[in-house]
Amino acid sequence: MQQSVSGFSKFTKVDKINWLISNYFNENSNAKSILESYWNSNTKLQKLHDEFIENTISNFYMPFGIAPNFLINGKLYTIPMTIEESSVVAAASNAAKFWSTRGGFKTTVLSTTKIGHVHFMFEGDQDTLQSYFENIKPQLLEATKPLTQNMEKRGGGILDINLVDCTQKMIHYFQLEVTFETKDAMGANFINSCLEQIASTFEILTQNTSELNGNQPKVIMSILSNYVPDCVVRAEVSCNIEELTLEGHFTGQEFAEKFIQAVQIAEVEPYRAVTHNKGIMNGVDAVVIATGNDFRAVEAGVHAYAAKDGQYASLSHANLENDVFRFWMDIPLALGTVGGLTGLHPMVKLALEMLGNPSAPQLMEMVAVAGLAQNFAALRSLTTTGIQKGHMKMHLLNILNQIGANSTEKEQLIHHFKTNSVSHRAVVEALKNLRD
Ligand code: MEV
Repeated sequence: MQQSVSGFSKFTKVDKINWLISNYFNENSNAKSILESYWNSNTKLQKLHDEFIENTISNFYMPFGIAPNFLINGKLYTIPMTIEESSVVAAASNAAKFWSTRGGFKTTVLSTTKIGHVHFMFEGDQDTLQSYFENIKPQLLEATKPLTQNMEKRGGGILDINLVDCTQKMIHYFQLEVTFETKDAMGANFINSCLEQIASTFEILTQNTSELNGNQPKVIMSILSNYVPDCVVRAEVSCNIEELTLEGHFTGQEFAEKFIQAVQIAEVEPYRAVTHNKGIMNGVDAVVIATGNDFRAVEAGVHAYAAKDGQYASLSHANLENDVFRFWMDIPLALGTVGGLTGLHPMVKLALEMLGNPSAPQLMEMVAVAGLAQNFAALRSLTTTGIQKGHMKMHLLNILNQIGANSTEKEQLIHHFKTNSVSHRAVVEALKNLRD
């Protein structure tokens, strides 16, 4: 049986790999050479990546693609996207091109407030706690000053602290709810440091007071929330329905009506809403990852927001008024363009540079646009040709690589499938025919 290992993080990289191979692979395995083949020959760069996490033994590549022609608030952008799904960059580029001749994307940052909590238990009287809290609030704020000074210089900091009674949700449960403005930083470390400082000051003050009649609050934990319903950006497109005409297929009116119904289905049906929003996240995550942001935080926050009205629903909406088709989305995005990986990862720096080194609110706008574009592209395919046509076309290269086609065969088969429909079986057969 496999033995547990001690002091593993202290092993050298080679020893870690040897340990892994001897425990999980047989002696004929090529695992070691695969891992080594992904090391970067630039040792400085490799060391940088090694130190991002613990126990790094190799690198894991993801394609870094670019989607040009994004007209956002009158300015053209090329958007960096890190994603493995074959059709996403193509879909984003198509949607960008389509809207670039119809006024482009418009965005508005609606709010940028982030939030965190000191969660604690208190068994005493609520009103007594409330008035005690009001008394010590300036001291709680004062205690964070060494942490907030720099952020305040940049126009951010703690906006407010409130006591929240959560005893309806759980007996004895209260929160110190703290709101923050973190400017261009995502702010997770800043928020968590402030919260921990507030919690420890709160504990010290409450231990030394008689005002709570001997009832000592018990701090359970202090942590930011990835639910950021007050850090929201709106992205939208609109045009006259005539501009939506798909020659030979749909009038603009027909297309708009079908498209709007597809959105309405996602507004009322959670099964569809999840897939609909997944399509939005194809665009969102790709830019979030390329720009070195925390896509898990974004995902968690976005899906919570999609369920804010009690049922999971579409993030995007569409309507038709006076022959004007409008398609829009409000999405919560806690992003940073300073701190974290942004100044460290060379590809992230490059991605931010090609976007003109945006502020965090500007990046929120670009990410939201990528999500809306992706959603538009998916819905346009779904309500017209069906999704598989485009998907399988883009997936063709993956199939060809999987079945071992060489470059000449790939070239010929890509040409063949320009006019034939792609399926795994059809590709296998076409390669066989070619070889025969
Ligand atoms: C696939 O990655 C995304 C879609 O399923 C999104 C959608 O159905 O709207 C095509």
